[in-house]
Amino acid sequence: MRPILRDMGGHRNMLGWMAAADLRFVSCVEDVWQGLRDNAYLPDEALATAVYLALRLRRPLLLEGEPGVGKTEVAKVIADWGGGRLIRLQCYEGIDAAQAVYEWDYARQLMHLRTMEATGRAQGADEASLADELYSERFLVRRPLLEAIEAGDGPPPVLLVDEVDRSDDEFEAFLLEVLSDYSITIPEVGTFAAVDPPVVVITSNRTRDVHDALKRRCLYHWVSHPGAQREAEIIRLRAPEVADTLAQEVAHAAAAIRDVGLYKPPGVAETIDWARALSLLGGAKLDLANASATLGALLKYREDRDRVIEHDLAAIVNEAAAARSA
Ligand SMILES: Nc1ncnc2c1ncn2[C@@H]1O[C@H](COP(=O)(O)OP(=O)(O)OP(=O)(O)O)[C@@H](O)[C@H]1O
Ligand SMILES: [Mg+2]
Repeated sequence: MRPILRDMGGHRNMLGWMAAADLRFVSCVEDVWQGLRDNAYLPDEALATAVYLALRLRRPLLLEGEPGVGKTEVAKVIADWGGGRLIRLQCYEGIDAAQAVYEWDYARQLMHLRTMEATGRAQGADEASLADELYSERFLVRRPLLEAIEAGDGPPPVLLVDEVDRSDDEFEAFLLEVLSDYSITIPEVGTFAAVDPPVVVITSNRTRDVHDALKRRCLYHWVSHPGAQREAEIIRLRAPEVADTLAQEVAHAAAAIRDVGLYKPPGVAETIDWARALSLLGGAKLDLANASATLGALLKYREDRDRVIEHDLAAIVNEAAAARSA
């Protein structure tokens, strides 16, 4: 569980705990940095600045970067920090409005119609009033975009449009339309418009380029792998049981391993797993024996593993120890 106690950007209540920050009124980049950190996410200054600007300018934030650099996690942590709901739209090939905005619950509509027929209520009703009854909000299945736009009072929800590069062009154009005016019209029901726009985070792994039109609408930030120092701090934050020396050596070794030219360079989650595995085996420091025994926590392809070993894992381990003590 993430800690709820915050130092900044919130208000202390009677129990001495901090209430969630009002995301629309964060006052500086430092507040964002601290707010995310208090929720176990350690951004660099550039990312904290991008989040701050997105919140203040009320613009969607488009995050691109390698797998595992913490793009999705940012959205989750912003929601935790602000106390709003996280509404996630996971994109995939072929996703359309029915999965993203709304659809009708045909099974329930049919049941309702049958009940009306059985009880004789359908007999006297004209076609228009029957349609009105069947296509009413009662039978509407709300999907993430509608949920985000419809959210009422309280902290703004965070809409996470995850891996938008997996969807196709038509869906992207549709998304752009929704994000332009934060309103959705359902012909049978009416128009839903957001009183306050949700906080929007869009992520992409760049398997294809996101179109310029969508990019223009958003603030853009490229999320890089953290440097060794920050990654060591992330390990300590997420896996406090890991000894400081080990966290630092793991972070230095992971940075060196990413430079080897792998098919799938490890993300931060894998580095944390690696540190946890080493710690569980009783390691307080990285050495060749424990590093090779736990490499499966870091690398998930046999070819990558072979490559790292060939590249000289012993040297990587020794350099990590030297860099840590430098
Ligand atoms: N800056 C950070 N601070 C704290 N934890 C982080 C940070 N960056 C990454 N992590 C950790 O790494 C994990 C993976 O991050 P996340 O799933 O957000 O990556 P991603 O960029 O969305 O990857 P993918 O492209 O594969 O979806 C998170 O659950 C978190 O534990
Ligand atoms: Mg992700």
